[in-house]
Amino acid sequence: MKRFDPINPKCPHMLHGGDYNPDQWIATPEVWDEDMRLMKLSGCNAMSICIFAWSALEPEEGRFEFGWLDSIMDKLAESGGYAVMATPSGSKPAWMSRAYPEIRRVKADGARQPHGSRHNHCRTSPVYREKCVIINTKLAERYREHPALLAWHASNEYNGGDCMCEHCLAAFREWLKVRYDNDIDKLNHAYWSAFWSHTFPDWEYVVPTDHGIHGLMLDWERFKTIQTIDFFNAETAPLREITPDVPVTTNFMPGSTTLDYWEFAKAVDVISWDSYPNWHETGDEATEAARTSLQHDQCRAMKQGKPFMLMESVPSIPTRGRVKKRKEPGMHMLSSLLAVAHGSDTVQYFQWRKSRGCMEKFHGAVVDHLGNENTRVFREVSELGAALAKLDDVVGTSVAPEVALIQDWENEWAVNSGAKVYLGNPKYRPECLAHYRPFWEAGIPVDVIDQNCDLAKYKLVVAPMVYMLRPGFADRLKQFVSDGGTAVMTYWSAVVDESDLCFLGGVPGSGLREVFGVWEEESQSYYEHESVGIKMAEGNALGLEGDYEAVDTCSVIHAEGSIVLATYAEEFFAGSPALTVNEYGKGKAYYLAARTRDGLLADVYGRIASDLKIARAIDADLPPGVTAQLRTDGETRFVFLMNFSNAEQTVELDAEYTDVLTGDAVAGAATLARYGVMVLRR
Ligand code: GLA
Repeated sequence: MKRFDPINPKCPHMLHGGDYNPDQWIATPEVWDEDMRLMKLSGCNAMSICIFAWSALEPEEGRFEFGWLDSIMDKLAESGGYAVMATPSGSKPAWMSRAYPEIRRVKADGARQPHGSRHNHCRTSPVYREKCVIINTKLAERYREHPALLAWHASNEYNGGDCMCEHCLAAFREWLKVRYDNDIDKLNHAYWSAFWSHTFPDWEYVVPTDHGIHGLMLDWERFKTIQTIDFFNAETAPLREITPDVPVTTNFMPGSTTLDYWEFAKAVDVISWDSYPNWHETGDEATEAARTSLQHDQCRAMKQGKPFMLMESVPSIPTRGRVKKRKEPGMHMLSSLLAVAHGSDTVQYFQWRKSRGCMEKFHGAVVDHLGNENTRVFREVSELGAALAKLDDVVGTSVAPEVALIQDWENEWAVNSGAKVYLGNPKYRPECLAHYRPFWEAGIPVDVIDQNCDLAKYKLVVAPMVYMLRPGFADRLKQFVSDGGTAVMTYWSAVVDESDLCFLGGVPGSGLREVFGVWEEESQSYYEHESVGIKMAEGNALGLEGDYEAVDTCSVIHAEGSIVLATYAEEFFAGSPALTVNEYGKGKAYYLAARTRDGLLADVYGRIASDLKIARAIDADLPPGVTAQLRTDGETRFVFLMNFSNAEQTVELDAEYTDVLTGDAVAGAATLARYGVMVLRR
C-alpha cells in the first residue's frame, strides 16, 4: 500500500471549508473581512469560490470584473487559506441567454427552456463552449501564479438532463454512426426495431424519445455521459494548458443515476463528490451511514484508491429529505470523519455563509444569518476543524480491500428500463446496499466498482442483479473464478447484452451458466406483505442452520453441477434451490436465487469472509451500529471506530493504539459515546 500525494502538495493537510459566495456580498466588503476571521477561527482552509459567479465576473458580454475576486484571493492567501476555484458554467448570465438562445436546453417536445434556474445549459452548443473557454482562460491566466489557487472545480454538479436541440441530436447521431460502424442495419438489430414496426430507415430518424426501445434509450444515456465529459474537457482545456500543475475536479453526484461517473472519473485528476444523507430522519442512522459509506467507497475506488474530496456536505440542516432534521450534537464530527475514514482528504460544505435570499437561504451553513461565531453549528464545525488539523498523517493514506461489490451505472439504466417491465420496482441500489452492509458492519473494507474494473486483485467479488452484461465482463468474471476467486451473483443476472437484447439459450447467459452451475428458469416478483421461506440444506458447506425469508423477487433455478446450500420452503417450487455454490477452476461461484432479508446475507458473507480470511480494519466484535474503517500507508494503520447507534457502545480492542484526537494510549475496552468516533493509530 503506498501513500498518495496530497491533492495539491501546496497544502499537505486535510482540507476543510466549503462553497463560499463573496460575489453575493460585494456591496458589503466588511462581511468579507469577517469571513476571513471566522474561517481562521473554525479551522477552515479551503474555500470553493466563483461557483455561480458568472454575472459578477462578466456583467456584460466582454466586460470582465476581476477586482472583487482579486481581493478575495489576496485575503485568502493572507490568512493562510486556499481557493478551490470554480469555473462559472453551472449558471448562465441573463445577457447570454438572451443573446444566444442556443445555450438553453430544448425539451423533447421541441420547446426551448426559458432563462433561469441553473445546471441547464446545452452541453453541445458551440457558443456556450466558446464563452466558457473565454472566461476560463481569463481566470487561469489571472490566477495562475496566485499562492491561494489550490484546485479547479469545474462547473457544478453536471447532470444528465436532456437537451434535444439540433446540435445535441446531430452529435448523438454522429456518435451512433461510430458505434454502429456507419451501418443502420446494425443499429436496427441492436434496437430490435422490427418490434412494433420501429425500423429506422436512416440516421435522421433516430430521436431518443421512444422509451419502449430499450437499446435506444440506453445509448442516449451513454451519449449524455460522453457529451458531458466532452463539454468538461472543452471547458477545462485552458485550465490544463495554463496551469498544468493545478488539479482539476468536478463535484460528482454518485447518488444520481444520470451520468456514468466511472467514465467521468477518467477525465478528472481527483474525485470529489457532494454527500447529503438524511440524518435523523428515520431514527436508523446506521442504515444512512452504510448507504453513504458505499458511495465513499465507490469514489475512492474510482481512482484506484486515491483519496477523494468530500466537496459538499451540510454542517447542519439540509434542504433535502422529507422532514428537515438538524444534525444532533456529535453527528457533524461523526459524519464528517466517516468520509475521512473511507478515503476523503477533505471535509467541505455547502455552504460557508447563508445567502440572504433565494432558494438556499435556510440551507445549513457554517455562518448563520446571525453573522458571528456564537452558534452551536459554528462551534461544532470548529471542533471538527481542530480534529482535522491533527490528521496530517492520514493525508494520502488509503486501503486495499479484498472485497469488491459491483454497482454499475449502465446496468442500473438497463435494470430501470428493460428489467423494470417485469420486476416492478427493481430496487437495484437498495439491493446493492443490502449486499454491502454485512461487510461494513463487520469492518471489512470494500471497493465499490463497475463491470469494467479489474477483478484480479480481489478475493471476493459480489455482483447483485448484474442484469445487463457489459462487453468482456462475463469473460473476466469467469477468469477470476477459474483463477481461484470467489464470486457471488444473484437472480436477474446475465439476462441481456449491452443493447438490452436477451441472451438466448438460458440465463445466466454468456457462459456464466457454466461458471455458476445453475440455470434460472423463471422469476417472479412479490408484494411487500408477501415472503417465501428459505431453508438451509442439512450439513451445508457454510455451516448455517435454520430458516430465512425471501422477499420482493424469487427465481426458480436448477442446479447444474452446483451444490445446493439452501432451498425454498414454500410455493410450488418448494424444495428447489435458493442458494448454490459451484466449484469452477480453482474458485467458487455462489448463486443466490432470491432477494432475502438482511439476516441471510450477514450470515452467508460472515462465513465466506472467514473462510477466505478476509482482512478487517480491526479484529474485534463490533456492536450493532458501530463500524470500523481503515486507512494505511502499509506501515501505520489508522482505524476509525464510529458509533452510529443511539446509545453508548464498547469495543474490545485487539491491540494497544494511540487515540489520535486526544493523544492518549488506549487498549482493552474502548467506549464510544452515542455518535462517538475515535481515530486509533498503530
Ligand atoms: C447541491 C449544489 C449546491 C447546493 C446544494 C444544497 O449539491 O451543488 O449548489 O445547491 O446542493 O442544496
